Amino acid sequence: MRHLIDFGDLPRAEWDALYQRASQIMDAPERFTGVCQGKVAANLFYEPSTRTNFSFQTAMLRLGGSVFGFADPNSSSVAKGETLKDTIKMVSGYADVIVMRTPWEGAAKAASLYSHVPVVNAGDGGHMHPTQTMADLTTMTRLLGKVDGLSIGLCGDLKNGRTVHSLIKALEKFRNVRFFLISPRELAVPDYIRAFLLEHDMPFTEVTGLEAVIPQLDVLYMTRVQRERFVDPLEYERCKGIYILTRRKLERAKEHMLVMHPLPRVDEIAVDVDDDPRAVYFQQARYGMFARMALLSDLANQPRLERTPAVEIGTKPVCRNPRCITQSQPYLPPLVRKNGGQDCCAFCDSALR
Ligand code: NCD
Repeated sequence: MRHLIDFGDLPRAEWDALYQRASQIMDAPERFTGVCQGKVAANLFYEPSTRTNFSFQTAMLRLGGSVFGFADPNSSSVAKGETLKDTIKMVSGYADVIVMRTPWEGAAKAASLYSHVPVVNAGDGGHMHPTQTMADLTTMTRLLGKVDGLSIGLCGDLKNGRTVHSLIKALEKFRNVRFFLISPRELAVPDYIRAFLLEHDMPFTEVTGLEAVIPQLDVLYMTRVQRERFVDPLEYERCKGIYILTRRKLERAKEHMLVMHPLPRVDEIAVDVDDDPRAVYFQQARYGMFARMALLSDLANQPRLERTPAVEIGTKPVCRNPRCITQSQPYLPPLVRKNGGQDCCAFCDSALR
């Protein structure tokens, strides 16, 4: 593995090795304090973040490395009109690893075409968020002892929630995982995710009600309605507050069910749930830091490429997703990949018609 763009591209054996490393770090963090000594990470955050940005920063600092970057693109040359390609070529001359979060879908993939150092996708619009998935899988494995065979309820904004998309892609690598996809119809999973579930024979049930399915779950993964992805504010008003997990609803859940959430929470989990031993979302955030330490200890120590591979300039159909990185960066090649037998944009996964 050179970059981490989409968890679907990470072979299971590489995930197992990363988890082993994360566990070793949790058990004896003092043994890893010099693993990234002299290494420098660039954190390019084009979109607000507290947890992920802090988590990557502390991960690198705890490994003995350093971090630079921005949390507000207006303080960088992007504000002067610099292309993503030029920013990445320049930053990859300074750093050993690039961690980036953007509102544009496929931006980390685009960056990986031009970077001389590994690129980590820390969230690209409503598309993917593979390092949150590392936190999620670490939490399930540490606390339940396994991921195989679990019944997992994903609840909330499954359309725009990138953590949900990445988690579904990752769970294909495990056996007998069963999904309950709990959302209003307007916020159901995107077509490419449904095609992925079908293509890989992953059993799933789409429902609109949370209470009826709670007793069957081993994990309840709550998500926030992603206000910033709504084009129409009235549509957001209609969807917000639709699922609120309360202590009363939890009474019907299994004794060892985990309540997870990538955070930040708005109102989808009542505050009094925090005291229930099944609520593990703050622990999940801490596990995320250890998982990122495992990732950085590998990627920041990879050799720098002196030349990046030439990028093919194609003439295939152009992606029409308005949130795709190809819309604002016209030099990008129109790369295609298959999803459930259909031609899709290799940056944002939306179907090419
Ligand atoms: C998530 C994200 O940014 O997608 N947060 C995070 O990284 N922990 C979830 C969210 O913002 O709702």
